[in-house]
Amino acid sequence: MKDFDYLKKGDVYLDAACQSLRPRCVIDALDKYYTEHNSCGERVKYKWGVETDEKVEETRELVLKYVGLKSKKYTVSFTLNTTYGINLILSQLKGDLFSKVMTSEIEHNSPFLATIAFSKRTGLLREVMKREDDGSINISDYDFKNAVVVVNCAANFDGRKLSNIKELVKAVHKAGGIIIIDAAQAMAHSADIVNGVEADAICFSAHKMYAPSLGVIVWQDSLMDKMEQGFLGGGMVDDVKLDSYLLSAEGKEHRYTRFEAGLQAWGEIVGLGAAIKWLNKMPKSTWKNFESSYRELYDYLSGSDKVHFVNKEANPTMSFYIDGLDSHLLGAALSRENIMARTGYFCAHYYLDHVLGLPPLVRFSLGLQNTPDQIAKVKKVMDNIL
Ligand SMILES: Cc1ncc(COP(=O)(O)O)c(C=O)c1O
Repeated sequence: MKDFDYLKKGDVYLDAACQSLRPRCVIDALDKYYTEHNSCGERVKYKWGVETDEKVEETRELVLKYVGLKSKKYTVSFTLNTTYGINLILSQLKGDLFSKVMTSEIEHNSPFLATIAFSKRTGLLREVMKREDDGSINISDYDFKNAVVVVNCAANFDGRKLSNIKELVKAVHKAGGIIIIDAAQAMAHSADIVNGVEADAICFSAHKMYAPSLGVIVWQDSLMDKMEQGFLGGGMVDDVKLDSYLLSAEGKEHRYTRFEAGLQAWGEIVGLGAAIKWLNKMPKSTWKNFESSYRELYDYLSGSDKVHFVNKEANPTMSFYIDGLDSHLLGAALSRENIMARTGYFCAHYYLDHVLGLPPLVRFSLGLQNTPDQIAKVKKVMDNIL
């Protein structure tokens, strides 16, 4: 693909679940920011700053459209990454408004640990819910009364989706709880799952959706009533006295600053706008070819009785181990063939190690940079290994 023309011949990048490769237009947008309008957003009156402001504003609008939510009710704030976004919310939520915190067994350490910390800080009970093979949560098994629920909508080892996300959000709200969705693994190729879903917050990482390193929180305005803001700084206030301050974020226009203390990653935000435009323009045929590629690789590997998948079905993200072969050694062998894949537990230790009791795994996570030639190469190399 010409968007990834910088890739060296023979290199096969299969670690998109960690960070996507960035297409040329995103790298160009970053380059343009640094060379043509390098400036601080929201404070600067000179023309570079005005251009930065326009582009940052455009990115906020693109993000909202991408997740199918409306600015009347939702605000987009930028952070460092998904982990930071989830922690930023949980560390400032008022514990006395809730009865417990709930997460699920297939979470990345990012929400898994943050909910442990929340439980310790507030003294609230923490409950870890089971996820079915289709990724759903059996709603009738749980009591969501006044609960804080933090769950992913796609897992980072097999891409399993929260298939009943809409019903879950409804059930949590009906019971007086709030729900934060970790959409880190959905935004690159399955953003449909969160489209129009009225969660209290959706957190994700731009670096997993072809954009520069950046975190995003899309949050419902009512969330702010449940927060005790304690992470403060520049860009958030209208006035400061000796030992008091007036937050500038009361009006709708600047609400996003509630999660944006200090200078932001303006170039990266502009780059995210470029990535979303690029994704929006992606032809259906490209997505079809992408699907054929990961299915082909999954079907090929499933054909060997030595390969044991965590996946129950094909997905761009697939994890497995091979009988009698250490996954880390396999990763090193693949690297010698210029195939970049991850090994271990991918920050999902609890589920993969302690629930399933699996040995360390290999993860192939595909992205739009992967060509049919590359898939053929991976199959050939795996054939030799098997
Ligand atoms: C499902 C999921 N949640 C959270 C994270 C954490 O993302 P980050 O490291 O960008 O904060 C990841 C990272 O792989 C992930 O896959």
